[in-house]
Amino acid sequence: MSTLDALRRPRQQPAAPDGGGAGRRLLEVRGLTTRFDTPDGLVHAVNGVDFYVDRGEIVGVVGESGCGKSVTIRSILGLVRPPGRVVDGTAYFDGVDLLGLRGADLRRLRGKEIGFIAQNPFSALNPVMRIHRQFANIMAAHGVKSDGEARDRARAALADVGIAGPDRVLDGYAHQLSGGMAQRVVIAMAMLLNPAFVVADEPTTGLDLTVQRQILDLIRRLVREHGQSMLLVTHDLGVVAQYCDRVVVMYAGKVIEHGTVRQVLNDPRHPYTQALIRAIPRPGQPLVHLTGRLPDLVNYPAGCPFRARCPHAFEPCGHIVPDAVTMASGQTYWCHLRQEKEEVG
Ligand SMILES: Nc1ncnc2c1ncn2[C@@H]1O[C@H](COP(=O)(O)OP(=O)(O)OP(=O)(O)O)[C@@H](O)[C@H]1O
Ligand SMILES: [Mg+2]
Repeated sequence: MSTLDALRRPRQQPAAPDGGGAGRRLLEVRGLTTRFDTPDGLVHAVNGVDFYVDRGEIVGVVGESGCGKSVTIRSILGLVRPPGRVVDGTAYFDGVDLLGLRGADLRRLRGKEIGFIAQNPFSALNPVMRIHRQFANIMAAHGVKSDGEARDRARAALADVGIAGPDRVLDGYAHQLSGGMAQRVVIAMAMLLNPAFVVADEPTTGLDLTVQRQILDLIRRLVREHGQSMLLVTHDLGVVAQYCDRVVVMYAGKVIEHGTVRQVLNDPRHPYTQALIRAIPRPGQPLVHLTGRLPDLVNYPAGCPFRARCPHAFEPCGHIVPDAVTMASGQTYWCHLRQEKEEVG
């Protein structure tokens, strides 16, 4: 019986969250809310986040620094530590609510069913343990007890991420690796047990541009080859355009727009998404930086959190939280501005 089967109970089956397309939806997050209780007050880091990932999709999560991307995915993966706490929501993964799992069950799922590629590869690697032992430990936790088999599988996983001479890497330590090599090792570890779902949090931060492209190309190739789904966190809409199928745009701990990459990039509806797109560097065009800052997440503003920076803000924005507007195409955004072809969802 798989880990997920063991955890799945009838009451945990979601009520056809994908509208009847049975089995298509892999992850469905609803109402996710995470707070940090700090000496300065309660930080409203994630505020009722809803999104989904279908099987075989690469979904980008985009937004400027501090908007809650990492806390969102860490909440789903059970990696939020005190003073942080997930206070509300569900995150159904293949029929199991991840937010309802105990630590040990969640740890078993991570690795086997969900691979996590963190922002900083060196924080994901143990500095004082040979790389081979780290691979062996992951496999031992999932039933591969023989050192010989563990080594063969680690070798194959490293070859898969383009590391020539895997034995040299396996016998060494993390500090002997370049940033790009270390991230390849972390990717190999995340992919080792062929999880259905891969979560990558800004996996190329700190790497030079050429290596960034190589790593993103590599991740996408592996995800597509293995038929996996992926959530890719980035602050770069260029990365979203090139690597993702759908995109979720976050602002101040909320999702403010989502849709296919084509829909959202060609026809952004939320003024924040429009501003992000205008800030993408284009040859021969002046950069239009978004001015202002994220709101204070301790004294969270009433109404629309973007209103203080929004060129179109009008009376209701100051006190009414916008409802979701879902267009016929499925593209959804949260803004009081309306246009004729839209229906309120
Ligand atoms: N341990 C913590 N204690 C207090 N506040 C925190 C903690 N971790 C995160 N936060 C707050 O939660 C909010 C969201 O942070 P998060 O790390 O999710 O942003 P992000 O979108 O991932 O940004 P970046 O692009 O810089 O990685 C921020 O305001 C941050 O200050
Ligand atoms: Mg982050």
